Amino acid sequence: MTEIEIDLHGIDEKDMSKYAHLKKEREKIIKDASGNPISTHFPLNEMAMKLHPRVQYVKVAEVIHENQDTKSFILVPDTEKGTKALAFFKAGQYISLEVPIENGVYHRPYSLSSSPKDALENKYKITIKKFPHGRVSNYFFDFVQVGDSFSISAPTGTFTYERLRDAQHIIAIVGGSGITPIMSMAEAICDGTLENVFMTILYGAKTEEDILFKERLNEIVSKTSKIKVEYVLSEEKNENYLHGFIRKDLIDQYVEEENSFFLCGPVPMYSYLNEVLKEYNIAKKYIRHGLFKSELDDINYEEYLLTVFTNNKKFTIPCYGNMTLLDAMEKNGVIALSKCHVGECGFCRSKIISGKVKTFVGSNRLKDKSYNYIHPCASYPESDIVLKLPK
Ligand code: FES
Repeated sequence: MTEIEIDLHGIDEKDMSKYAHLKKEREKIIKDASGNPISTHFPLNEMAMKLHPRVQYVKVAEVIHENQDTKSFILVPDTEKGTKALAFFKAGQYISLEVPIENGVYHRPYSLSSSPKDALENKYKITIKKFPHGRVSNYFFDFVQVGDSFSISAPTGTFTYERLRDAQHIIAIVGGSGITPIMSMAEAICDGTLENVFMTILYGAKTEEDILFKERLNEIVSKTSKIKVEYVLSEEKNENYLHGFIRKDLIDQYVEEENSFFLCGPVPMYSYLNEVLKEYNIAKKYIRHGLFKSELDDINYEEYLLTVFTNNKKFTIPCYGNMTLLDAMEKNGVIALSKCHVGECGFCRSKIISGKVKTFVGSNRLKDKSYNYIHPCASYPESDIVLKLPK
């Protein structure tokens, strides 16, 4: 143990008398003060509000038909509703979009596929692929037009490059529409927003038609040597592309001494790649996963009752074993806080008063479990449920 000597020499009670005049000075300052309220406007607070607005109102300025089942939407501020400028973001982040459809109000996370630089010109791009039972994705694909207005969250999410944590070389392994956050990173590397970063994209798609942003990716590759792209088609043999799935022998060709892996695609792709990446013996911090929703092994189609307490109101609605509690609430117009929809952001965290749920592995922190907190976006009912939403 090290002893620290403090020099108390010369300090005694009498010395305090040296400060007696301060009391009088203080009293004078208080007496002479104007009585106006103290300003609460600080440049730092204003900057924080610009970067993290609670809500942003946007309008669709352009719809781009990407392929047979995917469209991109250019969003700009809806100034009539009070949004003057869009918040800046980090490449790889997403926004949560609020969409009223029939009696429900749905929130869905969509990755920004444009460069963060575009946000400075008040433009976001999101890219939405329609899925067979995707209520919001189908609605967007079939009905949303130029001029439609929505509210969205501030950009959020941790699927981003961090200089202090990540290696200089990124290996992005993506499947299908999982390219969207990686596209934003590619744009950011190309325009210099992300400096001194190199990226190899291994992009798996079913057919050539399913490759999103192919022309733009090829253009970026021709502009900068910092980005390489390999396309792998699983359902089409085409001499211009590799055929099959993204396997270890392909990854081996691009692995450098230090790499950060950014994975984004369907759940089976993650299961395979998580096993493959173990063989490289790399620290966990170098492996990042995009948002994904785990699927349950055994689906139960039972009907249950979900009782929700929120803002001094009580709702009782039907809920099925194959739908999350959040999906049931959204479908029935019960407004619940949410952002990521996959048990990651913690925004929907609610207290379960009674009942039994099945949750995705990893979506429930241990402490939450012991205090009966769950994430309704990642919880399926196994009985009638009573739930209390956060204020
Ligand atoms: S919405 Fe993010 S954890 Fe539920």
